[in-house]
Amino acid sequence: MENISPALLDWFYKNQRSLPFRTDPSPYHVWLSEIMLQQTRVSAALPYYQRFLAALPDIPALAACGEEKLHKLWEGLGYYSRVRNLQKAARIVCEQYGGQLPADYDALRALPGIGDYTAGAIASISFGIPVPAVDGNVLRVFSRLYNDPAVVTEPAVKKAFTARVMEHQPPDAAGDYNQALMELGALVCVPNGAPLCEKCPLAAVCRARAAGTAPELPHKTAP
Ligand code: ADE
Repeated sequence: MENISPALLDWFYKNQRSLPFRTDPSPYHVWLSEIMLQQTRVSAALPYYQRFLAALPDIPALAACGEEKLHKLWEGLGYYSRVRNLQKAARIVCEQYGGQLPADYDALRALPGIGDYTAGAIASISFGIPVPAVDGNVLRVFSRLYNDPAVVTEPAVKKAFTARVMEHQPPDAAGDYNQALMELGALVCVPNGAPLCEKCPLAAVCRARAAGTAPELPHKTAP
């Protein structure tokens, strides 16, 4: 398949949502936004994001925050282990890295609450490191792009899809490319049988579009 990144990035620069963590993509901002967005929709998370940063504008402030205040800032988002891990990691960052997140994928990945996806998002979006950030949106886009019926919840399948994601990643625009894939999955290549293929910048090369299988993909359990 031809490289998708020129058409994808062109679409992204014209159609991306204006989001506060894109206007100022500091490592702390991207970290907080990605943790909030793990179980919460963008529209629901945004007011929490703004309020959280107004109260705790940097990592040392997060590390020093009292338990009650921290709980209140997260109240309504649920999954409180996320904010407990956030503070645990903030304290480690203060002790080991002088209060700044490290510009290193493996060092980020080693912090509490930061998995492959979040480490990849921070490393690529904030530091420009050419690593993948593969979430459910990206798996859906690639299952359709390659018309691949493999079960995307299988770790081996995720690994194979990640390799394909990296074949198309431009090393000098890794963060934009990763976010463009997420944005395409959120706005156009949407789940539940209703992809907006007529709006898709990749329609001409999409194999599921050609086969008429896009609405059925991705497969999440063995057929
Ligand atoms: N969902 C989670 N993180 C995102 C991001 N950076 N852009 C778009 N959608 C997202």
